[in-house]
Amino acid sequence: MKQLSDFPRIPLALLPTPVHRLDHISRILGTNVWIKRDDLTGIGLGGNKVRKLEFLLADAREKGAEVVFTTGGAQSNHAMLTAACAKKLGMTPILILKKRGVTARKGNQLLEYLMDTDVRFMDTDSYDDIYAEMDRVGQELGKPYYKIPCGGSNAIGALGYVNCMKELADSGLHFDHVVCAEGSGGTHAGVALGAKLYLPDTHVTGVMVDSDPFDVITLGIMRDAAALLETDIPIEPEDVHLLDMCGPGYAIPSPEGNAAISMMAQNEGLFLDPVYTGKAFAGLIKMAQDGTLRPEDNVLFLYSGGAGGLFAIDMD
Ligand SMILES: Cc1ncc(COP(=O)(O)O)c(C=O)c1O
Repeated sequence: MKQLSDFPRIPLALLPTPVHRLDHISRILGTNVWIKRDDLTGIGLGGNKVRKLEFLLADAREKGAEVVFTTGGAQSNHAMLTAACAKKLGMTPILILKKRGVTARKGNQLLEYLMDTDVRFMDTDSYDDIYAEMDRVGQELGKPYYKIPCGGSNAIGALGYVNCMKELADSGLHFDHVVCAEGSGGTHAGVALGAKLYLPDTHVTGVMVDSDPFDVITLGIMRDAAALLETDIPIEPEDVHLLDMCGPGYAIPSPEGNAAISMMAQNEGLFLDPVYTGKAFAGLIKMAQDGTLRPEDNVLFLYSGGAGGLFAIDMD
């Protein structure tokens, strides 16, 4: 098996991110709730994507790219963080975003404006159209370019979260459960593969905040990342555990997500967002309430950021 150190990686994030116990929420939920502060990765307003971009932008640089394309919805945290990291590395980010969500100069759109980012919108539901447009623009520019998929969710990006689980294993802390948000699959795939490799007793749950077929998507990214790592450890459908908390739809606040945001803010002074981490934490609350999490368990919530979008969305 290859080691993570065998892959090109640019250290962009401040690692390891802190882990601490949420005492009030542990008391309320009747189990031991801990939080991994991937909101503090140190670029932009922090968030999970920086770990993926350490590997993706290193691959881009190794391939000689000067221009980096990516995509997502109008308020994509991933797109904003790709722009921030690319700018820091002296590359030119171009964001070709779906015209879906808040396109006004609010939230991540404001941050992209402040970074003087080239942002373009396409009125399409198909990422294939967007990837074709990236090729068209790249060829027109005549510069070497690199395409990062929506969410940075491919095998290379997932290595960032394999690395996160290695970081956790190296810390010596033991968790019975890890719970993370699932929006395009790469984070959950990396966490689940990393758990298989380094923390086999830890049960991983991806909380769906969109309605894509994440059983297939997550398994596919896990298998691709396992192939990159040249591990012969079998990756089976049973390795993917999902909980659907999407509610009324992607980026549409849900009552459960909003209640989770309030619980975290009122008891721990931390601000989850209505698109990803609020719904993911609502999933953890549900797991505590339905007895999946036992009183003696230690459960780690992956706080994956999302602050950029918090100020764009009307929660009422
Ligand atoms: C704040 C936040 N948390 C979680 C996720 C989900 O990660 P993934 O897209 O890898 O499933 C995202 C994705 O954009 C995000 O922005």
